[in-house]
Amino acid sequence: MPERLLVVVKSGGAAAMPEWRAAFAAALPEAEVRMWGEPGIDPAAVTHALVWEPDAGVLASFPNLRLVISTGAGVDHVLADADYPRHVPLARMILPQTREGMAEFVGMSALMLMRDMRTIARQQAERHWRIPPDMPLARLTRVGVLGLGALGLHAARYLATLGFQTSGWSRSPKTIAGVTTSHGMAQLPAFLAECDILVNLLPQTADTVGLLDRARLSLLPQGASVLNVGRAAHVVTADLLALLDAGHLSTAMLDVFDTEPLPKDSPLWDHPRVVVTPHCASTPSRTDRAHRAATLIRLAEAGEPVPDLYEAARGY
Ligand code: GLV
Repeated sequence: MPERLLVVVKSGGAAAMPEWRAAFAAALPEAEVRMWGEPGIDPAAVTHALVWEPDAGVLASFPNLRLVISTGAGVDHVLADADYPRHVPLARMILPQTREGMAEFVGMSALMLMRDMRTIARQQAERHWRIPPDMPLARLTRVGVLGLGALGLHAARYLATLGFQTSGWSRSPKTIAGVTTSHGMAQLPAFLAECDILVNLLPQTADTVGLLDRARLSLLPQGASVLNVGRAAHVVTADLLALLDAGHLSTAMLDVFDTEPLPKDSPLWDHPRVVVTPHCASTPSRTDRAHRAATLIRLAEAGEPVPDLYEAARGY
């Protein structure tokens, strides 16, 4: 086993390395930090990896890997590597800032959807002055959060403090003050039927891929909107577009896409009922994430429990 800590980083490419290195130099000075794919790295010397979308097979080539850390809250992009070494613990990156940033993004988006800001932005582009006929209010608007994990729970609470009628759905039962909760597949249709705005914050697992297909999205009330800050794979994009075009759904705000960056020729870019945001809902600074990674590495090295570890049985 290597004596020295060697952390390889794959996130943000070469341009991001100075920031990662500087942050690790402060947070974990005993570690050597190398960029993923840098020439001259001895695979046997690599002890830790901090990654976003690691190239398939590479993690398996590090025989002394002790911990893999995702640079984001999700780990689906790591598990997409069929050769991922399953005996190595895999940690999700969830900071207080991740929860706060997500809750604020969700709150902002819910308010924007409620006030139909997509239409107002389009009117501006057309120099068209039109006052919306109605003024909706949060206390009269039902927002449902799919997924009540670390991020969904916080977002639901925040929505409730903004005054929305807030509900939440999760795999297993949860109790949250000020939020109506339901759980399990049997309760999903009733949950969807009561959402003027649906917020997706599920983790991507074998059970959740394709969950929001035409049949389920059709259960949303006429004129409902969708905010996807989970993963693109949860939503069948063609079904979503069909329901937007048919006028059943009002607007979709999408922060996550099957291919990122979103290809220039995607119809989503200029769809009149879609708001595209560049996977920016909640990404804490590299410095903060390096400090968190250092904390997780220290805990693992000390043989202490590491928080936010991936659990194969639940899929995230
Ligand atoms: C980003 O989507 C993340 O997983 O944090």
